[in-house]
Amino acid sequence: MSIFDTSFVTPWADPEIVQMHRRSMRSIHTTYTDIDAARKGDRTSSPWFASLNGQWKIKRYEDVNEVPASAITDVTKSWTSISVPGNWTLAGLGDEPHYTNVQMPWKGRPPTLPPTVATAVHRTTFTVAKNWKDRRTVLHIGGAESVHMVYVNGAFVGYGTDSRLPSEYDISAALSSGKNELAVVVCRYSAQSHLEDQDQWWMAGLHREVFLTSQAMIGINDVRVVAGVVRKSLRTTPVGTLGVHVHLNVPHEQKLQRGWTAVAHLETLAGKRVGKAHSVEVPWFDSPYVFAGHVAGISWDIPKVDLWSAENPTRYRVIVQLVNPAGDVVDVVPVITGFRSVEVRKRSLLINGERVMIRGVNRHDHHPDKGKAVDVEDMRADLVLMKQHNVNAVRCSHYPNDSRLLDLCDELGLYVIDEANAESHAWNTSLCHDPAYRATWMSRISRMVERDKNHPSIIMWSLGNEAGYGAVHDAASQWIRSYDPSRPLHYEGAVFHAGWVDGGLMSSDIVCPMYSTIDDIVAYGKSGDGTRPLIMCEYSHAMGNSNGSLADYWDAFENTPGLQGGFVWEWKDHGLTQCLPNGTTRLAYGGQFGDMPNDGNFVADGLIHADMTPHPVMRELAWVHRPISVELKSKNKDPQLVVRNRQWFSDLSGYKATWELVVDGVVAKTGKLTVPKIAADSSAKVDIPVIIPHDAAEVFFSVTWTLARDTAWAPKGHVVSWDQVTLRKSSPVNATIPVTSVLPIDISPRVTLWRAPVDNDGFKLMDQHHGGGNSLARWTEQGIATDDADMVESTTTITELSGGAVKYKHTVVIPEDMADVPRIGATFSIPTRFTRVRWYGNGPHECYPDRESSAMVGVYEGKPDELPYLVPQEFGLRTDCRWMEFIDAKKGHVLRVEADGCLLHMSAVHHSAHDLYAASEQAELVRQPALNVHLDIAHRGVGTASCGPDTLPKYRITPGEYTFAYVVSYR
Ligand code: GAL
Repeated sequence: MSIFDTSFVTPWADPEIVQMHRRSMRSIHTTYTDIDAARKGDRTSSPWFASLNGQWKIKRYEDVNEVPASAITDVTKSWTSISVPGNWTLAGLGDEPHYTNVQMPWKGRPPTLPPTVATAVHRTTFTVAKNWKDRRTVLHIGGAESVHMVYVNGAFVGYGTDSRLPSEYDISAALSSGKNELAVVVCRYSAQSHLEDQDQWWMAGLHREVFLTSQAMIGINDVRVVAGVVRKSLRTTPVGTLGVHVHLNVPHEQKLQRGWTAVAHLETLAGKRVGKAHSVEVPWFDSPYVFAGHVAGISWDIPKVDLWSAENPTRYRVIVQLVNPAGDVVDVVPVITGFRSVEVRKRSLLINGERVMIRGVNRHDHHPDKGKAVDVEDMRADLVLMKQHNVNAVRCSHYPNDSRLLDLCDELGLYVIDEANAESHAWNTSLCHDPAYRATWMSRISRMVERDKNHPSIIMWSLGNEAGYGAVHDAASQWIRSYDPSRPLHYEGAVFHAGWVDGGLMSSDIVCPMYSTIDDIVAYGKSGDGTRPLIMCEYSHAMGNSNGSLADYWDAFENTPGLQGGFVWEWKDHGLTQCLPNGTTRLAYGGQFGDMPNDGNFVADGLIHADMTPHPVMRELAWVHRPISVELKSKNKDPQLVVRNRQWFSDLSGYKATWELVVDGVVAKTGKLTVPKIAADSSAKVDIPVIIPHDAAEVFFSVTWTLARDTAWAPKGHVVSWDQVTLRKSSPVNATIPVTSVLPIDISPRVTLWRAPVDNDGFKLMDQHHGGGNSLARWTEQGIATDDADMVESTTTITELSGGAVKYKHTVVIPEDMADVPRIGATFSIPTRFTRVRWYGNGPHECYPDRESSAMVGVYEGKPDELPYLVPQEFGLRTDCRWMEFIDAKKGHVLRVEADGCLLHMSAVHHSAHDLYAASEQAELVRQPALNVHLDIAHRGVGTASCGPDTLPKYRITPGEYTFAYVVSYR
């Protein structure tokens, strides 16, 4: 027997059925009984809130048609338990996570379903408090993948779609006194899945929180707060404008009495009243034709207001009370708000009137153990780490997150692009024209806006991702423009399909391309064409060892009119913890769960590892985003520093600066840098506070800025910016002939052109995958994929120097047809006892020729790097080294390699290029005790070709003769 009485009603198979008996969307808020509790904002203290999170019972069926009606009412004693929120695909119930990018996991045009639709019945029980009687009980399901049906005490209550937005149901009529049985039936896939085809794991389950609220029969249903700014000119004090709209629930069969009042006041977060309370009678008149809804609207101006921005996220609290005709306070609802303006004017996105650069990242919900069921602490951890790396904007790619993420963005200060859960990548250009999907499209977009309207952090609404461009987009846009004229719109599909200059104007106020070349965006900027600023919705694809040319992008963004930053793809690798039969665990990528078809490790393309460890590029990211820069004004006799405040709303009083004078690699002097007051978005010249020594070969001056005070996202002392300027640079010097002992080992360096390909060089795990870089295929064909360089002409001369040191000199000739090799260098391995590495060159972190702007020249020491990437590949390089030393820490012996008349890129790790290439995952990689050393005269930049432009020509290796030499000594 089907769970529906009539087996032909199969909403999961019908895209037109968007919901049944679901309540209209509203903002997420809690109703309190008094102002003090509202101010504290702890929803668990409200008598009208009850969480249903926790252990539920679950039973999984192979197909939705196999779910018997009895599953809704059966005794669940023998059922398995599952955490709600949670993904049952991580609970060992027979469904595994499945990763695809563009392709759907099954074949067939929308709305085709997979051959079977795995379905799980989730069951729990609850009782409602006595004082909830005679009120409305609303069930809130935060998110269910893919679609869900709700039953209370065996009765069907409703059906909901859109796995990334809440669904709410009035369950009052189905309740009984005492224990109530709740069953939520979730289908893993549905006709809706075709519009949820994002590049991520397909999961399943109730992945967001579930709770109950109790509403007075006549009470506040929703509050809308519109906080804006008017400013006569940039020099005048901004005036805050506040609109508060209180939407009442009034049973339609009941006539509202006169005398209901909505009272609203504004206060600081500390609870200090700002101005007086404002009240207005709720419109009670409900005659046909003239009825305008039971919505009380109040608006007023606040003459002195602190604005909200990502730099200074000043929030206020609006407290709304609903008072009945007898004068009793019925409901109290707090809404956190912030005053700010967003507009697009003359090819600029202006926040509070300023052309703020978007230093953004794309974020998915992901946790290696919890999958999509991230909790507030996980969200905060993500956002705090972003703030610590000078990120000022997040794109909710590609769906609305739990609204508590937006609360956190309001609090911490991050500009948000809120994106609708609408991606039809496999049916990219057709689905948006399919009338059967029109309603769901409109619902997804409008419900997002209705839920999230009150958040100051949201600066743009996005219509979705990679879902073609059609009338449905323009229709949804018009709806938003009318409902919320306070925020611009963003939709990449509109400009991609209709053109950057004047295409898709209805649906996007921004030219928001993905992965365009620097040349293309600069050409747009310089052309002066169009009216829209260009902000890249995705760029610098962070798959593996990647993000080459990040600083080149920023050079373009900052020096080209019309360009205003972008969002790096993406924040975090989506590796999932998988327990293997041998008892070990690994972070798995697509295919490792037996999921077919799949897109392999394309799911691991984050700036940070799934476990939150930052990849080395995060230093470069923090640097290109830094709030303060220091440059050298002139290189003449009296060089000066130019300190630039790269913020838009704050001076530099929140930071402290210290300097170091680095003379021939040694920190010779340090001090505090005193700077004049430098206003937002301006700069000042500062004298170099130290005499530059005359007798040194190389002199660098480094400035580091730290937080002067604790913030919500980092403690005092946290480094926010750094720069190193070159005061004197000599051409590479000849190696010194050190006093040395005879070399105890024969290192026998071999010339090599090979590096273990990075993901951008080509997908070693996905031959079938179209796209990505093609270097790997070329190198394999050329026979370079080996540690020997027999395919090119090379010579090595070995000279024994007095005292036991040995000089190696290599000459390598790269013919025209071998241009663009991975590297030109020498490699050798050294024994286990050398456990530490010290070098004089760029550092301290891993850097490559096209990702080294954040590095500073110095002498650094540490343990050899361990592989920071999910899939084994080249790692650990340090560019422009003068020397590198390998230290036997126990005996104090040092093996030193000193570049002779050149600078060398060096690395020393426990894996050979061959082993790194051969392994498809970390578990296959055997960490050798010996160190594999690479000394390169040239190394190809890493680029971003896994999705985006290849390494720029200036970072590729050209044909010609390369000579390099170094002296190896021992002490
Ligand atoms: C974009 C897409 C993202 C992701 C990225 C590549 O096309 O919007 O979701 O797939 O490419 O990793």
